[in-house]
Amino acid sequence: MRTPIALAIACIATVLTVDAAPSTCTKSYKVISGDNCYTIGEKFNSSAPKLISLNPSINSKCTNLKVGQVICLSKSATSTKKTTIKSKTTKKTTKKTTKKTTTKKTTTKKTTTKKATTTKKTITKPSTTTSTKATSTKTTSTKTAGATPTLNYTKGLVAAVNSKSDFCMFLPSSPGGKDLNNGKVDDEAISKSEKSANAFCLKANKNAPGARLFPKNFIESAHFYRNSTAGYVQVTGKFNPATYSLSIKDGGGQYDNHGKGSPPLSMCFGYKYFVNLVEPDKPDYCMRCCDSYEDCHAGRSTYGCGRVVSNGNYN
Ligand SMILES: *[C@@H]1O[C@H](CO)[C@@H](O)[C@H](O)[C@H]1NC(C)=O
Ligand SMILES: *[C@@H]1O[C@H](CO)[C@@H](O)[C@H](O)[C@H]1NC(C)=O
Ligand SMILES: *[C@@H]1O[C@H](CO)[C@@H](O)[C@H](O)[C@H]1NC(C)=O
Repeated sequence: MRTPIALAIACIATVLTVDAAPSTCTKSYKVISGDNCYTIGEKFNSSAPKLISLNPSINSKCTNLKVGQVICLSKSATSTKKTTIKSKTTKKTTKKTTKKTTTKKTTTKKTTTKKATTTKKTITKPSTTTSTKATSTKTTSTKTAGATPTLNYTKGLVAAVNSKSDFCMFLPSSPGGKDLNNGKVDDEAISKSEKSANAFCLKANKNAPGARLFPKNFIESAHFYRNSTAGYVQVTGKFNPATYSLSIKDGGGQYDNHGKGSPPLSMCFGYKYFVNLVEPDKPDYCMRCCDSYEDCHAGRSTYGCGRVVSNGNYN
């Protein structure tokens, strides 16, 4: 039985699919939270360059995707075939009874687009939120305390740090950042992925759904430290850039969940804040998850791991 909510969603899905997709588009997709061109490409057997070329609305680095935006996944090769979009959107939310939505008949083709299921939950553990407005992320100088953390739990954007053999952090969603750089290794892959990175873990972690696994031999050393008094955990060490095609000229960048988040909606499970630097030119990484803002300084990205997580071991 469909609830009114389910019906409403069904209607919206139909309208958007029909309206927003160009007439030559044979398959479209509605962007969900956590998507970027690379992950969408992976989901639908496409690629970031292809998506960018198919969609004039997407910029060349694919940094302007918006949740709810309808993009084209493929266009018909010949103009003789008049195909309307058929998309079967299965929306699942954890509680509601939202089921199937649209089933539009096509004239010729039968394509089924499966939509990934997003798990979105609001974490309850980190209790209070700070009051001040979000400031922009990754400023170079010191900033006033009270950045607003992202507390939403979004698939692929949640890291977790439990021990030196069980932790996650963020990385560009494609090796070497190639998919956002015309297929070439990007010397600024880390900083350019601050809006589109994905969580990667050393091993599967139930608290980090949708996270991928680090490439084999990516992590070369890991040192875990927990400061229970202050309420933070961290893991620091060396990694091998080559295992993920990262350039050793890449000076690195910082991911964190202050302000709007880098990447947006990212977080560290069980903690209110996190700060994560990846520096291929060293090559050092550091990942710290904190209860308090002071321990996860966001304003120091230009200083690198040695300053941001100064008590880390980088051997
Ligand atoms: C994926 O795309 C490639 C190249 O476009 C194509 O050759 C292949 O058949 C596709 N695979 C599936 C499962 O659609
Ligand atoms: C978190 O999720 C809630 C409910 O889905 C939404 O209203 C809110 O805008 C989200 N917060 C952010 C920062 O995206
Ligand atoms: C742990 O945190 C407490 C409180 O912030 C601090 O005083 C102490 O120096 C920290 N310990 C280490 C080893 O960093």
